[in-house]
Amino acid sequence: MPAFGVPTLEDLPPIEGQRVLLRADFNVPVHDGEITDDLRIRAALPTITWLQEHGATVVAATHFGRPKGTPNPTYSVGPIRARLAELAPGVELLENLRFDPGEEANDPAFVARLVEGFDVYVNDAFGASHRAHASIVGPPQHLPSAAGRLLAHEVEVLLGLREHPNRPFVAVLGGSKVSDKLKVIDALLGVADELLIGGGMCFTFLKAQGHRVGASLCEDDMVERCRALLDGGAAIRLPSDITALGPGGTIGDPGTGGEVRQLGVNVPDGWMGLDIGPGTSAEFADAVLDARTVFWNGPMGVFEDPRFEAGTRTLAEAVAESAAFTVVGGGDSAAAVAEFGLADRIDHISTGGGASLELLEQGDLPGLAALRASWSPL
Ligand code: 3PG
Ligand code: MG
Repeated sequence: MPAFGVPTLEDLPPIEGQRVLLRADFNVPVHDGEITDDLRIRAALPTITWLQEHGATVVAATHFGRPKGTPNPTYSVGPIRARLAELAPGVELLENLRFDPGEEANDPAFVARLVEGFDVYVNDAFGASHRAHASIVGPPQHLPSAAGRLLAHEVEVLLGLREHPNRPFVAVLGGSKVSDKLKVIDALLGVADELLIGGGMCFTFLKAQGHRVGASLCEDDMVERCRALLDGGAAIRLPSDITALGPGGTIGDPGTGGEVRQLGVNVPDGWMGLDIGPGTSAEFADAVLDARTVFWNGPMGVFEDPRFEAGTRTLAEAVAESAAFTVVGGGDSAAAVAEFGLADRIDHISTGGGASLELLEQGDLPGLAALRASWSPL
């Protein structure tokens, strides 16, 4: 039986001498033409190796950034192609899928052009499998198809959290917007024993509790929703102290002055809460150390600014130190863990940000559904 009803590499017909279209997510961070973190490229290597060892010719395809359907040299896959050639010689990489409007529109004509000349399709693009785009959902309608090793492993780990976590299960959410994460908050409250909330989104909750948020990020139209969650007895723990920047200060630029203060849960007018305070950092760290399962998504503060990195760093250290099974969901929190040199002490760092949240929320993704529909037992 294939994993989660989705065919895996072993379910493919013999691929000796065949041309395989490999959809990967090589949407890596690039600065000044240099890849700053090649995790997503390295993560596809087990699948590439398996395909090559079984005699296939591998042609990879990825999106890179958001060029909105037009060719744009800034978003050319050149640097990715160069790195891939070092890591996996012999693998060709097609140009950015999003240079064609047919990719995001899931245009059948674009799918037809994409699969031309291929015998088999493999999806290893976990980070993009929440997008019902042409290269994700189209090829399984035309070719024998399977999930690659990375996609299968991500699904196994994240659905495992959803379905049978060891308890206590502590989830930690940060990031700026409550509105983006309401559904995932609901989903996590359904499976986790406690949800710790930091980052910019905590101020909307603190306002719902009647506290003053000053000039901090706050989504006023979400305050009622947050209040309803708290009044309903949701197992949410909010910060008990805040690190804030005073009037005149600039985020990311300590040189421009502006006083930094440790506050309680009330932020005065003109002040901006930009990190959880030391008391909260210690409390959150304790919760993570006492847990048996931890899921973390989203920084606790503006960690790019050294004045507001302590909360995120303390949490990352606790997640690394915890005996729990620890999962960090993509994007900024994965970058933080890497920057603090703690990546190898986390059990699973997801290559997907939005995809990992959507999988926890829905228990499925469009890319998985497409593979499932393609597969028929012999
Ligand atoms: C990501 O980096 O989150 C994935 O590669 C998906 O990219 P997208 O958010 O531009 O669709
Ligand atoms: Mg551990």
